[in-house]
Amino acid sequence: MTDRYAVIGNPINHSKSPFIHTHFARQTQQDMRYEALLAPLDGFATAVRGFIEAGGRGMNVTVPFKLEAFELCNERTPRAQAAGAVNTLTFENGYIYGDNTDGAGLIADLVNNQRFELGGRNILLLGAGGAARGVVLPLLHQRPGLLTIANRTAARAAELCNLFQGLGAAVGLGAIRLNACDFSALAGGQFDLVINATSASLSSQALQLPAALYGPDSLAYDMVYGKARTVFMQQALAQGADRVSDGLGMLIEQAAESFQIWRGVRPDTTRILFQMRAAG
Ligand code: ATR
Repeated sequence: MTDRYAVIGNPINHSKSPFIHTHFARQTQQDMRYEALLAPLDGFATAVRGFIEAGGRGMNVTVPFKLEAFELCNERTPRAQAAGAVNTLTFENGYIYGDNTDGAGLIADLVNNQRFELGGRNILLLGAGGAARGVVLPLLHQRPGLLTIANRTAARAAELCNLFQGLGAAVGLGAIRLNACDFSALAGGQFDLVINATSASLSSQALQLPAALYGPDSLAYDMVYGKARTVFMQQALAQGADRVSDGLGMLIEQAAESFQIWRGVRPDTTRILFQMRAAG
C-alpha cells in the first residue's frame, strides 16, 4: 500500500512541500503520497489523529502549529527540544515522534549550497522568536567565532541567549561564544553572516538596523523566500553585503532532512533547487 504523508498548517495552499516531497519520492523511487492538509485553528490534534487513523505515516508541520505539535509528541529529539518546536512528525506503533529539521536545513543550505563555512565566523542572528530559536543550536554546533542574537526587544534576545548558554554546556559544546543585544547596540560591529529570523520580511517591513554591519565577503541570509528579493535582502545589498540569499534552499533542505527521517534515503536537492529558483 502507498504510504501517506502530509504537510499540515493554516493557511496551507501556498505550501511548496507537496511539490518538493513528490519530487523526492519520484527521484528515490519511494512508494508514497504527500498531500497538503488544512487544519482548523482549533483542530490541530484532531486533524493529526484523523490522519493517523487513515494510515498516515508522517507529517510536516507549519505555521501556526509547531508548538502544538511539540506538545502532542510522545518523544522528541534533542534538537526539537532545543528548538521548542516540532516540524516533523513520525507515526509508528501508536507513538508520535517529533523532530525539528529547520536548523539542519539552514546549515545544509549555507554549507553545501552557498559554500559558506561557519566555523570561526562572526555571525549575527536577527530575531528572538520561534524561527530564531530553531536555528541557534545547529549554528552553535558549527563552532562560530561568535554568535550574536539581536532583537528589537532586547529582553527576548537575552532570554534566548541564557537558554542556550545553559544548553550548550549540557550538550557538550563547552564554552560557547554567544551574546545578545538590541539593534542599536550593533552599531560599529561587522559580521561575516547576518541571518534574518524575524517575521518582518513577511510584512515587507525594513528592520531598523545600523549601517555598515557587513564585512568583506559577507552573506546576508533571509530565512523567508519569495519571487522577488525581500526588503531585508535589498537593504543588505545597499549596505554593502557581498552576497544575499533568501530561504528557498533552507526550505528544500529541511524537507530533505524530513524525507530521510521517514524513508531512510537522502534525496539529492540540486535539481529541484535549480528548478524552483528558475521558476521564481
Ligand atoms: P516566529 O515564530 O516567526 O519567529 P515570533 O515568535 O512572533 O514569530 O517572533 C517574531 C520575531 O520577529 C521577533 O523577534 C520580533 O521582534 P520582537 O520580539 O521585538 O517583537 C521580530 N519582528 C517582527 N516584526 C519586526 C519588525 N518590524 N522589526 C523588528 N523585529 C520584528
